[in-house]
This record gives sequence, C-alpha cells and structure tokens, in this order.
Amino acid sequence: MSNYIEDLNWRYATKKFDANKELSSEDLETLLEAIQLSASSYGLQPYEIIVVKDAALREELKLASWNQTQITDASEIIVFANKTQITTEYVDSYLEDIAETRSLKLEDLDGLKGMLESTILKLNPEDQSLWAAKQAYIALGNLLSAAANMRIDTCPMEGFDIAKYDELLNLKEKGLTTAVIATVGYRSDEDQSQFAAKVRKSKNDLINVL
Ligand SMILES: Cc1cc2nc3c(=O)[nH]c(=O)nc-3n(C[C@H](O)[C@H](O)[C@H](O)COP(=O)(O)O)c2cc1C
Repeated sequence: MSNYIEDLNWRYATKKFDANKELSSEDLETLLEAIQLSASSYGLQPYEIIVVKDAALREELKLASWNQTQITDASEIIVFANKTQITTEYVDSYLEDIAETRSLKLEDLDGLKGMLESTILKLNPEDQSLWAAKQAYIALGNLLSAAANMRIDTCPMEGFDIAKYDELLNLKEKGLTTAVIATVGYRSDEDQSQFAAKVRKSKNDLINVL
C-alpha cells in the first residue's frame, strides 16, 4: 500500500478532539501553506481563509453549529469563505499579479483575460458564488490530505448556520460567505469513530472505465 493510501485510511472525520492537545504553530503554518498551494480554476483562488483563535467567538460559532463539540475542543477551526461575486476589478488585480510575478506584460495575458470575461465574469452572481465555493472545497480537500500525512486530525464540517457564521465573522461586508469549515487537532482516545471501519462504495460501483 502506498504511504498516501495509508494516510487516507488513517484519517477519519474526528468527532471528539482532545481539548488539551494543541497544534504547534509550525504545523499550523504548514497546513495553511497546503491550503495556499491549492489548485483553483484559472488560479483565481476566489476565497479567503479565517483561523478563529478567539475563544468567546468559538463558543458562539459552536452554538451556530448544532453545538458540535469539535468547534471548541479542536486546537484550530479553519473557515473557508468564498467570494460571493467575481468582479472585473478582482480579475484585473489577479492578472496584474501574474504579470508581475512572471515578468510579463499585461497584454501577454489578453488571452486569459478574454477567457475569464467569457466564462466566470459572465456568470450571474449566484453562480459565481457557487463556482467560488467549489474552489474552496478543493482547498478543504488539500487540508484534509496534508493533515493526514502529518498525522493531524480533522473534521470537515457543513453542519452550521451559514447566515450566523457570516454575521459572526463579518463576512458580508467583505463580499464573502462561509462555504465550509474544518476543525483541526488531535483525536481523543475516547472517540469511538476512530475504530469504525471505513464505509465507501466499491471501486466497481464508483469507477467507470469507458
Ligand atoms: C463537506 C463535508 C461536511 C461534513 N460535515 C460534517 C459535520 O458537520 N459534522 C461531522 O461530524 N462530520 C461532518 N462530515 C464528515 C463526514 O460525515 C465523513 O467525512 C464521512 O462520513 C466519511 O467518513 P470519514 O471521513 O470518517 O472517512 C462532513 C464531511 C464533509 C466532506
């Protein structure tokens, strides 16, 4: 078995974290770098990441998350907030960033600009937000895999009130909305879920080769 498959078998959606175990700041930085390095459509990274350290705020977020204990027990809570709209200004500043980073002229990027104009910028705001959320989920996936590789536990979570999160984190005024969250830390010995066998579709049912 490859190490990577071992990593994926090791991980599980942690229900009970050890509230006394904290991630080192180096490990947190590595995980945030894995998020930063995520692929995204056109490279637009239409999201921001919020690491909530404030204990009182985390208590409030827990109330907005069906009281799921991971929110306060895990060492970290990482919020993936996607842009609700993709504007021409946002695209332009991305193109400028590429030009500067790669020592190109802006005109060199006219082809990419045209593609962005005829696809993402053409979507209505609702679809732009949906598209942006999809990109945020790729970053979530990277976080889960990177953490598993480092033997750090995670729980990806959608069980929360989006409107309450947006309000508590002041996301609306930043043109963002909560897509998904992940709690990160170390499993409690008492978490029975760690002993449960993985339930997955068989490869036969999952994979079609044409
Ligand atoms: C997007 C997403 C949202 C999820 N939301 C929650 C959640 O709110 N609470 C929770 O305990 N587990 C949550 N899960 C965990 C899933 O139930 C779990 O990943 C799935 O049952 C497969 O089990 P495994 O990850 O332990 O292998 C979520 C998983 C994903 C990918």
